[in-house]
Parts: sequence; structure tokens; C-alpha cells
Amino acid sequence: MLLSALSVLFHVLCIYVDVVSAAACDCSSLVVPVHVDVLVPKDPMDIFAGLKSNLSSLRRVDDTYDIYGVFYVLQLLVHGITYTSQYWSPPVEEFRNYSYAAFSCDRGLSTLAIDWPGVGLSSRPVNASDVQFPTAAAALSQIARHLKKSSILPGVSPFRKIIGMGHSAGSALLNFGAIVEDARSPFDGLILTGSLSLGPDTLPSLSIVPSARDVNPLRWGALDPGYITTSNRTIFYPANPTAFSPRMLIFDDFTKDVGTVSTFLQTPTATLTTRYTGPVAKVVGSEDQFLCARGRCTDVAALTAAEHVLWPVARSFEVVVAQGSGHDLNLDFLAQGPFNTFIRLVEQFSGL
Ligand SMILES: *[C@@H]1O[C@H](CO)[C@@H](O)[C@H](O)[C@H]1NC(C)=O
Ligand SMILES: *[C@@H]1O[C@H](CO)[C@@H](O)[C@H](O)[C@H]1NC(C)=O
Ligand SMILES: *[C@@H]1O[C@H](CO)[C@@H](O)[C@H](O)[C@H]1NC(C)=O
Ligand SMILES: *[C@@H]1O[C@H](CO)[C@@H](O)[C@H](O)[C@H]1NC(C)=O
Repeated sequence: MLLSALSVLFHVLCIYVDVVSAAACDCSSLVVPVHVDVLVPKDPMDIFAGLKSNLSSLRRVDDTYDIYGVFYVLQLLVHGITYTSQYWSPPVEEFRNYSYAAFSCDRGLSTLAIDWPGVGLSSRPVNASDVQFPTAAAALSQIARHLKKSSILPGVSPFRKIIGMGHSAGSALLNFGAIVEDARSPFDGLILTGSLSLGPDTLPSLSIVPSARDVNPLRWGALDPGYITTSNRTIFYPANPTAFSPRMLIFDDFTKDVGTVSTFLQTPTATLTTRYTGPVAKVVGSEDQFLCARGRCTDVAALTAAEHVLWPVARSFEVVVAQGSGHDLNLDFLAQGPFNTFIRLVEQFSGL
């Protein structure tokens, strides 16, 4: 109970302090109701999220979710698994240094950081197996279309361009949307951070994500066991303990949220080819203990060539290896380096 109340307080604080410290930005929060009507695998352990299934092994999820978002403008930010929209603006050190939302805002570029369905302040379906990649990607697409079509706040025009920016499983989710929608995608460019197509040796094991209700019975005791969380997040940071603040690690653990078994297992759908036609960039930290193990990110040209194969008709394709950064590029001491890269890419992709 106490932890859950604190988590809500952090959200409110985040909005308040951003408004005060970033006077140039329109910052507020909103809830967008979305209706999804999709086919998900009957088997929530299906790692292809139904893309390789026939109709008899799929079932329909027809539901309405309230999607919570902190509103800035233009870039649609999608957090990774067990994170929330706070990943893009963590209230550590009074929001300085680690807030991409504030960094971007200071440069006149707006962002909307959303919580996935089932996560943070968005609707949480009782049955975790309703939250699969098709469901979450449909919600995301619908938000992007909505932002381009209608004014969501008084005095704010619909956006001409929406750039999708993800972190980790959030990048894989944007990637999944690009596989499903190809050239019909509402996104004018994709910036996929902390995400590479997973090799067979990096397939995630469910053993690292216990049921949330077992990890914190006080906060999550009533949840379907299909809602999972992490037990120890050190792997998201560089192996060198002087590369990040110990306070950030504590904060990160304290504010962790839930994901679902399905969305965790479906992250490798990002190994399938997409006919998406917009510009695409991947940004990964050289010290990512998960993705860049065994020297995988040392030869950037070879890595780029390998990743490019999955995006054959993208208008442009680029891989940036941020030297010294870990998996959570936004949360270690070098965060400002990746932030500058994101800004360059957003300006390039939106023709600014
Ligand atoms: C559909 O898939 C199931 C499970 O993979 C299989 O048993 C069944 O034969 C398939 N049906 C058709 C019509 O292909
Ligand atoms: C954090 O931000 C403050 C104020 O902007 C700055 O003085 C400090 O050097 C920054 N620290 C790091 C580690 O970047
Ligand atoms: C969740 O939904 C699936 C599909 O309808 C069903 O098989 C499963 O029993 C449900 N789980 C719970 C905990 O209700
Ligand atoms: C977290 O995991 C790492 C590596 O698996 C281990 O060295 C460390 O002691 C663990 N930390 C905690 C607080 O459990």
C-alpha cells in the first residue's frame, strides 16, 4: 500500500517539477482511451506473438484501455519492460542530468512518454495474457494516429510528425508495430534504443523475471501471476560501478513496475523482417551487459550490416554505439551523450 502510494506521488511530482523547471515546455498529463480489437496467441508463451500462427491458435482481445501519458509533444516515448514513463524523466537529482524529456524540451522538442497497457498508471487488465505485443502495439499506433488527427489539449494543434522512440522492450514493441503495419505505420521515424535483434544465445529466460506478486506481495499480491517484474537490475547498468550513481540504482529498484510473461517472451519478434519505409536508427551502449556481451558491438560496421538486413526498405538505417553507456542509456553518468544523439536523429527524421 505504502509503496503504491509513493509510486503515484512520484508521477505527480514528475509533472509538477517539469512544469516549474522547463518553463518553455507545455507539460501536463493525460489519459487517452483506446480501443483494441486484435488476435493474440492462445498460448501466452508464444514468442512470435501469433505472427506465425494459424487462426485456430489465436484468440480475440476486444477491450478498451485508458492509456496514461505525460504530455510534452512530438516524440512518442515507449519505456522498456518493468519500467514506466518515468524512465524518460526520473526524479533523481531534481530531474537534472537524467531527464530526456527535459533535455529535449530545452531544445524545443516535445515528447509524450506513455505507460504500456498493464503498466504504471495505464489500465491493468485482470488477465495478464491480454497484454501481448499485438495489444500493446495496437494501443501505441492508435495514440500516434490520434496525435496526428486531433488536438489532445486546448491550444495544441495535431502533430504533423510523430517519431517513435523506444527503450529495450519498448523498442521491440515499436519494431513489432512496424512489422505489422509496414508502410502504413503512423510513425515518421523510429529511434530504437537499447535494442538489437537477439541472437539465439541471448534469448531471454523467464527465470530472471519472477511473478510480481511473489516479489512484492504488499504491492502486487492481488495480480495475476502472469504479471512479472525483475529481481535485480544491475545488468541494466555498466559492469563498472563508478559509471553510474548508486542512488540511481536504488531509485531504479524502488520504482520498478511490472510487465507480462507474454511481452517479455515476445521481445525477440524484433528478429523478423519489416517492410517499414521510414528512417530507422538503433542506439545501444557499448557497455550493455546483455546486448553487447562477447564483443558484439565492437565492429560497428558489421553490427550495422547485420541489423540492416531486417529493415530492407527503410529510407535510412543507422546504428550508433554509445561508448561507455549501459543498457539503460538514460540512467548512467554518460546519459547526455545518448541524449545529444537522440536530438540529432529526431531533427534529421522530422526534417527540422
Ligand atoms: C493450426 O495450428 C495448430 C497448432 O500449431 C495445428 O495443430 C493445426 O493442424 C493447424 N491447422 C491448420 C489448418 O493448419
Ligand atoms: C548534473 O547536473 C548539474 C546541474 O545541471 C551539474 O552541475 C552536474 O555536473 C551534473 N552531473 C553529472 C554527473 O552530469
Ligand atoms: C486468461 O485468459 C485466458 C484466455 O481466455 C484463459 O485461458 C485463462 O484461464 C485466463 N487466466 C485467468 C487467470 O483468468
Ligand atoms: C545482483 O546481481 C549481481 C549479478 O548477478 C550480483 O553480483 C549482485 O550481488 C546482486 N545484487 C543484489 C542486491 O542482489
